[in-house]
Amino acid sequence: MAVQLRAAHRPGRALAALALAAAGGLLAAATVGSGPAGAAGTTLRDLAEAKGSYFGTALTQSNLNSSTITAIAGTQFDVVTPGNEMKWDTTEPSAGNFNFGPGDQIVSFAKAHSMRVRGHTLVWHSQLPNWVSSLPTSQVKAAMENHITTEATHYKGQVYSWDVVNEPFNEDGTLRTDAFTNAMGSGYIADALRTARAADPNAKLYLNDYNIEGLGAKSDAMYQLVSSLKQQGVPIDGVGFESHFIVGQVPSSLKANIQRFTALGVNVAITELDDRMPVPASAANLAQQATDYAYVVNSCLAVTGCVGVSQWGVGDPDSWIPDFFSGYGAATMYDDNYQPKAAYNAVVTALGGSSSPSPSVSASPSSSASPSVPPTGAACKVSTQVSAWNTGLTENVTITNTGGSAVNGWTLAFALPGGQSVTNAWNATVSPATGQVGASNLSYNAAIPAGGSTTFGFQANHTGNAAAASGFTLNGVACAAG
Ligand code: G3I
Repeated sequence: MAVQLRAAHRPGRALAALALAAAGGLLAAATVGSGPAGAAGTTLRDLAEAKGSYFGTALTQSNLNSSTITAIAGTQFDVVTPGNEMKWDTTEPSAGNFNFGPGDQIVSFAKAHSMRVRGHTLVWHSQLPNWVSSLPTSQVKAAMENHITTEATHYKGQVYSWDVVNEPFNEDGTLRTDAFTNAMGSGYIADALRTARAADPNAKLYLNDYNIEGLGAKSDAMYQLVSSLKQQGVPIDGVGFESHFIVGQVPSSLKANIQRFTALGVNVAITELDDRMPVPASAANLAQQATDYAYVVNSCLAVTGCVGVSQWGVGDPDSWIPDFFSGYGAATMYDDNYQPKAAYNAVVTALGGSSSPSPSVSASPSSSASPSVPPTGAACKVSTQVSAWNTGLTENVTITNTGGSAVNGWTLAFALPGGQSVTNAWNATVSPATGQVGASNLSYNAAIPAGGSTTFGFQANHTGNAAAASGFTLNGVACAAG
């Protein structure tokens, strides 16, 4: 794995940990990155980071309303790709009118969970509003450059990488005909990359496509393009292999293909991994899927310059596959109930972890809100961290047990400022949505040892007052401010 990217990533996480420590007056870093699967070192993100890599996921705005999805996303993964929220039809639906609200929500979630963001995507023939395709060809270049400049400037410093151009090739390796090639020929790609570099010099700039994972006409075309761009001095940092696979059909040339791209001096990222199969899934296909996932992760780990793997979605219920491939599904590492599948365990093993016992990812409030041991009052300290945007916020709350004995089961009561309304939560169940609120532990974080701490968080809408919650009591005992 690329050492320089590991180095680039760690400071961000260290800063987040320091910020938490500063806010809480304690070393809260231990709670960052651990989560449903238990202690630090057992989540996909922790295992990947220990190898200088990352494990990412895609999230859409609607996914943020599911506490099940956000609980897994915020603990298992350390990179987020917005599924739709940074695409042209969302960000500039009419000429010159930009809308970054949905993308900002994904970025805010990422920040609250110490995750990096893969910006996706600046220039793509799909999810492109009609006004762009309808422009006279003489005006497309200016529209494209303005779009890239405005969006990349808005997210400057907030995205780790950009898929600058998405899916430029046909299956036979010819350039796809679209509004951009019609107006500028193949030169639009270099122009887009240069424009993105000028807007955000620190973002890693990628070209991203599917069916380029193995050797073949389409990946040859991408290889020739990248080689030519490098020779011309056009800024390009990486190539994204989308990796939408069919079970049992992962190309055997994946590793060799990654190697030839990195030999050009660019990184490779597995950007949208999933592995579909006919549904209902057979045991044999689920076992093959585990083999496939491990093969992909191992192929990336084996090549310096393959920076990490992202899955497209969190679990089978939020995957795009059933909507686009009739009769197919079960394409991710989490099943219909968001329980980890064999593929999850295979990835844990590939990342150097132990997959036994099977990790708990329960985020079900009903099964976990009530602790088995009756809660008792405890001395406590609470710190808060708010990230707000114009109409919403996320807030992380760290509880420290300052008493002399462990807390087994907890409810933290607090007051939300007027106008705030909770929409979803992670690492706790939070209700009601407004006013005097209670946050109760889930099954995996019921215990807070003496001197230990735990962090939960929530997202809320607000009407102007984005202040932190206040008046905390833990199991009925007032807490000091952290
Ligand atoms: O927002 C509209 C909604 O108003 C309307 O009622 C509804 C009716 O169909 O459609 C909604 O838009 C959908 C959009 O996702 C947002 O949910 C589109 O129909 C649907 O086509 C679109 O699908 C997205 C797809 O890209 C479009 O190409 C998927 O969610 C998204 O996961 C998928 O992501 C792509 C990557 O960007 C590039 N690589 C392939 C990958 C999978 O197709």
